[in-house]
Amino acid sequence: MATTLALPNDIKVELPEPKLLIDNRWVDAASGRTFATVNPSTGEEICQVAEADAEDVDRAVRAARHAFERGPWRNMPASERGRLLLRLAELIESHSSELAQLEALDNGKPVSVATAVDVAKPAVCYRYFGGWADKIHGKTIPIDGDYLCYTRHEPIGVVGQIIPWNFPMLMMAWKLAPALATGNTILLKPAEQTPLTALRIGELILQAGFPEGVVNLLPGFGPKAGAAIARHMDIDKVAFTGSTAVGHLIMEASAQSNLKPVTLELGGKSPNIIFDDVDLDEAIEGAHRGLFSNQGQSCCAGSRVFVEQSIYKDFVERSVARARSRIVGDPFDPRTELGPLVDQTQLDTVMSYVDSGRSQGATLACGGDRIGSRGFFIQPAVFADVEDTMRIATEEIFGPVMSIIPFNGVDEVIARANQTKYGLAAAVWTRDIKRALAVSNGVRAGTVWVNCYNVMDTRAPFGGFKQSGIGRELGEYGLQQYTQVKSVIAKL
Ligand code: NAI
Ligand code: MG
Repeated sequence: MATTLALPNDIKVELPEPKLLIDNRWVDAASGRTFATVNPSTGEEICQVAEADAEDVDRAVRAARHAFERGPWRNMPASERGRLLLRLAELIESHSSELAQLEALDNGKPVSVATAVDVAKPAVCYRYFGGWADKIHGKTIPIDGDYLCYTRHEPIGVVGQIIPWNFPMLMMAWKLAPALATGNTILLKPAEQTPLTALRIGELILQAGFPEGVVNLLPGFGPKAGAAIARHMDIDKVAFTGSTAVGHLIMEASAQSNLKPVTLELGGKSPNIIFDDVDLDEAIEGAHRGLFSNQGQSCCAGSRVFVEQSIYKDFVERSVARARSRIVGDPFDPRTELGPLVDQTQLDTVMSYVDSGRSQGATLACGGDRIGSRGFFIQPAVFADVEDTMRIATEEIFGPVMSIIPFNGVDEVIARANQTKYGLAAAVWTRDIKRALAVSNGVRAGTVWVNCYNVMDTRAPFGGFKQSGIGRELGEYGLQQYTQVKSVIAKL
């Protein structure tokens, strides 16, 4: 543990070793370069962190390759790999408040959210996939002739993983847990905005006793460290979560290097469809949380709220009242519901969408102004009278900006919901089971929620249709992304 940072109100946050983790050692970048990670509540630097680039990626690949080919990892009893994952889950839980504070500091999200989601859910995820480690097996297949044919589900090898800043510890868990359960070795690049919790979990990974070179952590920037991972000739697979634009680059890099398989979890513009027969209070709160949770910085944010014409006016008025009552402020205050956005870039992007909504003729019913000049705070915004073709209704905003759009009838709303390049999630609110199922079947999205929103669980697969991604994470489906099938045919 390197340093302790003192914040106002007697809060002390311990900072991890701000270095790269390669072959179970904390090291500086080969270039010696570092970068600042910033506290979004103040805009001030928290600390300098070692900045990985291509040379460090090479070093980490060598460590991970050695660990895969010659280390104890791949051939140790699968149950032992599972036990290491369970131990990591326990360590995360026993450091819960410290990790939640570190995330609130580096990402800006409320400590309450960081505790309930960012710490609690990764622990569940590591435990779940730890349980799978010794339950992954192939089939015996009765082929023609006098042969024994069976399949083995083998690890893919050295895996590169690139994650975003919106749920740093959770995205890390979604990537690491299935890859480790299946016996791969890993290089993971956390987002440059939020490297600190990944490094603290790196310390816990060492404490849990993972062998050398199995998990390597490379904080750094996308175009340098990230791109070096995507194009590396000796990385066997890349898993990425982030923007659709970078998803395209990752696939290109794979095509131009060694054709490594790629899994992508990308952006969304998820429709949240509300019929007029609902319990209005419940639907309004559901739509509110479905959009404003995590400052709206969520890939499955319900950012197109389709509301049936007959309840539209009422729904808008009450959604505006709810958005106005959302408590924006210091992430360390337990009452806070909405912290700052992650950085200046994200603030600028979100503000430019608010301007675009106004200039394209939507009605800004509340919010949308920056709060103060210190940190990256913005008032939760609600737009009414939004049309399908406006930028705020077509592009991923990734911020606390809700667009409420009127509709009439099931067929119409399904068609309009599908008019997007994205297909990550959707929701439908109604008491009518036929309508609920018609929408669930008709909407092209990887997850559909009925009378709820953002219900995510380690055991249920998650991922996108269309340009929201390739492959599924979590659950049994998530395991398939980290194994390859070998047929063994033996003459009898
Ligand atoms: P991004 O896609 O640039 O960053 C995500 C990760 O990719 C980071 O670790 C970054 O360092 C890395 N990266 C960036 N360029 C790369 C490259 N050329 N090669 C390899 N890795 C690279 O997303 P960013 O800039 O942080 O946010 C921009 C927008 O992306 C957001 O406003 C939001 O719309 C979307 N986004 C979606 C996320 C999701 O969960 N689906 C998460 C984060 C952002
Ligand atoms: Mg930061």
